[in-house]
Amino acid sequence: MRLNGKVALITGGTLGIGRAIALRFAQEGAKVAVSGRGRAALDETVALIREQGGIALAIEADVQYKKDVDAMFETVLAEWGELHILVNNAGICTPVSFLDMSEEEWDRHMAINAKGTFLAAQRAAKEMLKQGTGGSIINMSSVNGINAEADQAHYNATKGAVNLLTMSMSVELSHLGVRTNALCPGLIETRLTKPLIDNGPAIAEYLKTVPMKRVGQPEEIADAALFLASDDSRYVSGHCLVVDGGQVTKLS
Ligand SMILES: NC(=O)c1ccc[n+]([C@@H]2O[C@H](COP(=O)([O-])OP(=O)(O)OC[C@H]3O[C@@H](n4cnc5c(N)ncnc54)[C@H](O)[C@@H]3O)[C@@H](O)[C@H]2O)c1
Repeated sequence: MRLNGKVALITGGTLGIGRAIALRFAQEGAKVAVSGRGRAALDETVALIREQGGIALAIEADVQYKKDVDAMFETVLAEWGELHILVNNAGICTPVSFLDMSEEEWDRHMAINAKGTFLAAQRAAKEMLKQGTGGSIINMSSVNGINAEADQAHYNATKGAVNLLTMSMSVELSHLGVRTNALCPGLIETRLTKPLIDNGPAIAEYLKTVPMKRVGQPEEIADAALFLASDDSRYVSGHCLVVDGGQVTKLS
């Protein structure tokens, strides 16, 4: 088991990619704190982890608010006394054209995807340095942090920010034992992408951009997250790992 004795916190772990990561980390022996919005889905994830023999804790928190982020860390530390892995996975995307994008939608994406990632990453790094164990921080970015997709200017900008935040943290923290990396998934089958995946003509058109000609599954991102969380990646820091069926390398 690759995460034996480790404590991991997964934000946005109630559903989709975050839930798959939480389940995978628990299978590998980590104690997993799952946070997110929506009590029912949160409790369901924790129940799934416990059913498979894992150790889990549910924490309701909205990552755009510092007081929620601080309370989330205090709950983990009160329960388990330490933290070794943070997966900054919470994120939203509500497509709208650039010209119709409201100030409120821009601010909401920045607050959750970019500021929320910063708040949790900073607190995690401080705790890891205080406890003297070092750690691994994984920020959930996207292929949209590398190339721009129409109707997602706000989302694209937040994921671009996440990539540079990841590199900035790596530059300042790697020599202190805290590694920071990002994951850049392509199209993964979750609630977020259901409207596109359920739209036959639209998904057929989209898959023309993906050399593997299929959407990815949350478990495929969880496996990549496990690599970045574990000592298998002990000399990897500041990297943005693309997991996209080959999409971003395709010219047309
Ligand atoms: N699904 C994809 O194709 C895809 C591709 C690239 C990147 N991503 C990224 O992966 C992450 C997870 O996406 P998903 O597809 O699993 O989405 P999802 O909608 O299934 O899950 C999103 C999770 O984030 C949580 N969340 C949303 N707003 C929050 C907030 N303010 N505070 C705390 N938690 C909040 C939700 O509770 C949920 O647990 C996101 O950061 C997303 O941008 C997804």
